[in-house]
Amino acid sequence: MDEKKFEKHILCIGAGYVGGPTMAMIAAKCPQYLVTVVDINAEKIKAWETDELPIFEPGLLDVVKQARGRNLVFSTEITENIKKADIIFVSVNTPTKTFGEGAGKSADLQYWEKTARDILKTADSDKIIVEKSTLPVRTASAMERILNSNDKGIHFEVVSNPEFLAEGTAISDLEDPDRVLIGSQETESGLKACDEIVEIFANWVPRDRIITTNIWSSELSKLVANAFLAQRISSINSISALCEKTEASVKEVAHAIGTDSRIGSRFIEASVGFGGSCFKKDILNLVYISESYGLTEVAEYWENVIKINEYQEKRFVQTINKALFNTIANKQIVLFGFAFKANTGDTRESPAIYVTKKLLEEHAHVVITDPKALKNAKNDLAGFGLNLEFEIDPYKAANNTHAIAVVTEWDLYKTLDYERIYRNMIKPAFIFDGRNILDHQKLYEIGFNVYPIGKTPLSHI
Ligand code: NAD
Ligand code: UGA
Repeated sequence: MDEKKFEKHILCIGAGYVGGPTMAMIAAKCPQYLVTVVDINAEKIKAWETDELPIFEPGLLDVVKQARGRNLVFSTEITENIKKADIIFVSVNTPTKTFGEGAGKSADLQYWEKTARDILKTADSDKIIVEKSTLPVRTASAMERILNSNDKGIHFEVVSNPEFLAEGTAISDLEDPDRVLIGSQETESGLKACDEIVEIFANWVPRDRIITTNIWSSELSKLVANAFLAQRISSINSISALCEKTEASVKEVAHAIGTDSRIGSRFIEASVGFGGSCFKKDILNLVYISESYGLTEVAEYWENVIKINEYQEKRFVQTINKALFNTIANKQIVLFGFAFKANTGDTRESPAIYVTKKLLEEHAHVVITDPKALKNAKNDLAGFGLNLEFEIDPYKAANNTHAIAVVTEWDLYKTLDYERIYRNMIKPAFIFDGRNILDHQKLYEIGFNVYPIGKTPLSHI
């Protein structure tokens, strides 16, 4: 590959759920740029070079294939690639800190800071550094202090460009985003760097959907967007508990309120709880930042979004236990789905992890089935004992079980032959629909005792 023929050299540090797909999209849309993605995880990089990508994301392989070998390169060679890059996107993980000051709430910025130091050590020309990872507001100021402490006379301009893709729909989110957000310092060099990043996305995103703001608004908007989305889910989940007591149906309530254009119909689907690597982490981060500025009421307000989510997960297991005559010891329960949502193999913070552990605590025998997440499920549950089984075929998984718990809303579960499943289950057979995706009346007529979320159960007992 003749590297000199490319207009810009773009590097991305971190080849995960964000780095891989976003860079593949930039490379596919902009053949004039050379896009290199690096990671410290050699196994992951190797997988990005094959057709067995390290993450499952519908449509991703096609996009990767459009550009791989042409202007998209995956590599473990970090130092050399930092030197060659004009623009460096940093897309490393920023999990919740598990130790020391802020443990359990603040963001663990060690991976982030390590990249800043790698860049500082290696770079020998001016560069634009783009915050792609989700970060606490004002991180850019720390980043700039570290980077511009160099004595090589090099200038680094830090720009914020948070990512809003959702897993399972990453490719359409990237191809046709609601908006792209770019925040910069309002200095001459800051605005110039901002324009350079705008120019990349303007290759395929209409200009009126590219929002530019000051850098702090951009950093904070990312946390706030996730907090608002999660808040809607906790709001409807809290109402689902009330529906179960009052014979209202949460689906009907969500539909009725969602038709009000001021409320809107999205993100008000009651569930067993939200999962994923970011909602909880980003809200905790918002809580921590608010606390650190002495804004106790603000912190408490957002913390409740997480508390309701935990309450919802707990309620789901309590419902199972209660319906199965207050004892699930030695009973067989199958989880339909383990991923935190459909169309991904990702299980980070999946409600399924909590549900499985609680069922095991009660000495139930748990069978897990999922079309894409069994590998991650096995890792999540390593060491959790003999009462666990993994089976990709949902029919086999449900054989001889007392109850089915739907945890992930995979389409596949909507169209199974539930008469066949019912025949092979232990009676009385139960189904707990943690996603409200099944035809409850039909299941009841087959013979199941049906427990939806936020709706009166249909029970033969
Ligand atoms: P991930 O864990 O999938 O990927 C991060 C990658 O960074 C890993 O492969 C890791 O090996 C690599 N890495 C860590 N330190 C490194 C270093 N020093 N040098 C090179 N590589 C290094 O994480 P992710 O889900 O892609 O999330 C990345 C960031 O994007 C997070 O801040 C997250 O909050 C944010 N985000 C995630 C999503 C999502 O859907 N997953 C969406 C929007 C934003
Ligand atoms: C979320 C945001 O939607 C993205 O915009 C953001 O970029 C991303 O977090 C991030 O920062 O990581 P993601 O977690 O991939 O994306 O998936 P979502 O579709 O938001 O779903 C999150 C969780 O909420 C899932 O467990 C899902 O099942 C649940 N959910 C979603 C509900 O329970 N009800 C709903 O109505 C919607």
